[in-house]
Amino acid sequence: TEAGLEAEFEARIAADERIEPRDWMPEGYRRTLVRQMSQHAHSEIIGMQPEAEWIGCAPSLRRKAILLAKVQDEAGHGLYVYSAIETLGVDRAELTERLLAGEQRYSALFDHPVRTYADVGTIAWLGDGAAICLQVPACRASYGPYARAMFRICKEESFHHRQGYELLTAMMRGTAEQRAMVQESLERWWWPTMMMFGPPNARSTHTERSMRWRIKRVTNDEMRQQFVDMAAPQAEALGVRPPDPALRWNPEREHYDYTDPDWADFERLISGDGPLRAQRIAHRERVHREGAWVREAALAYARRNEGAEVG
Ligand code: 3HC
Repeated sequence: TEAGLEAEFEARIAADERIEPRDWMPEGYRRTLVRQMSQHAHSEIIGMQPEAEWIGCAPSLRRKAILLAKVQDEAGHGLYVYSAIETLGVDRAELTERLLAGEQRYSALFDHPVRTYADVGTIAWLGDGAAICLQVPACRASYGPYARAMFRICKEESFHHRQGYELLTAMMRGTAEQRAMVQESLERWWWPTMMMFGPPNARSTHTERSMRWRIKRVTNDEMRQQFVDMAAPQAEALGVRPPDPALRWNPEREHYDYTDPDWADFERLISGDGPLRAQRIAHRERVHREGAWVREAALAYARRNEGAEVG
């Protein structure tokens, strides 16, 4: 019976067992996974846009090779996560259509413009640093294909994070103008990064149920705190100051105190009012349309080889 299946599912979650694609799962569990995982996959793909714009402006061959590799990694991350979502019975074409129709989200981080080359370093240091705080717990998510995709993604995010920090370190060792660029960049990206963890727990629609299903292992506020605890000493070592006057080590809590971002601003951004949203979606729509011939050719090739022996 349905009740029996549900009880068995709950028992497996409670025992910390992985749920696999062919296992029975409640419809809400499947829907929550599709929602959260597609937001993740779309973020990886949309996130390529602001960084790719700067490949042609890299100040050296070395920086160009690093940035190219990073942008390609993001495409790979999007593809792993889309493939993991396909195991839930939704195909990638449909997910792309739902993104373009405004029915699914991508991280609001990418609704902000990249203004200087320092931003390339800051996005990697802070944005990928925050992504690590979001994704390391997801390696223990109850849905097998999602958890396994996260392992490899997290390894690559660590490389992204470090190369960003290394770029900023090089700039901080440069001229006064370069140091000012890093500080200015940090001031613009700090609050958008703090928003990456979603609304405070008390205002989060999905946290309680996702924690119960072990899709989420750590709450939004806990992940935000972890991020601050990681980024604050790194900023200090770099010689820059995040734009939060309340940011300081609290020896009693053994955590940094911090100010929350402006949640009204967050609501405005995720309601589709981000300054670059229309541009990001139009670009995605255009490249998707222009790539139609590649999908058609791949399908024709697969059909021609159907039934042929794979050697
Ligand atoms: N941007 C846009 N929307 C956001 C958001 C953000 N930063 N944070 C939360 N939201 C939305 C949620 O989608 C939800 O809207 P919905 O009900 O319409 O779907 C609403 O705000 C309420 O948030 P909840 O806390 O209830 O939502 P979740 O339980 O899903 O928690 C989350 C939010 C912690 C971001 C979770 O979805 C998550 O862990 N996602 C996977 C990680 C991820 O998305 N990573 C991508 C980051 S970017 C990246 O990796 C690229 C890197 O290279 C920079």
